[in-house]
Amino acid sequence: MNEAQWQSLYEQACSVREKAYAPYSQFRVGAALLTKRGGVFLGCNIENAAYSPSLCAERGAIAAAVAAGDRELAAICIVADKLASPCGVCRQVLFQFGTKIRVRSYAADDPQKFQEWSSSELLPDGFDLKPHG
Ligand code: THU
Repeated sequence: MNEAQWQSLYEQACSVREKAYAPYSQFRVGAALLTKRGGVFLGCNIENAAYSPSLCAERGAIAAAVAAGDRELAAICIVADKLASPCGVCRQVLFQFGTKIRVRSYAADDPQKFQEWSSSELLPDGFDLKPHG
């Protein structure tokens, strides 16, 4: 991943963040996912009155990539009000699709402010089960 690629993902994550549906937390998150084939898929958080059905931006973007048949994930860029460290569920879902996915989290007000990890740094010794077939 080079800085121009991150810049492009950052801009797309900022745009999709505007679509976030976060009436309960008011914490708006956008995610832009790059696949090894060069596909870009976007997601935003979608909250729910019953709380637990709420969807994080990261999982929305991963769902879009998988539905497009493009599931070799290279990198995901997350933009939120402040640096958002991906939740445990999103870490497990990322890990399912690769241990070397680059993950960057940015603060929306400052593209210089970010944190970066690999998917296995986010979930050391993550649960793995070889799928059947
Ligand atoms: N959220 C995300 O979408 N991604 C993260 O990495 C952290 C949390 C969402 C879930 C919820 O809608 C809101 O942010 C507050 O937790």
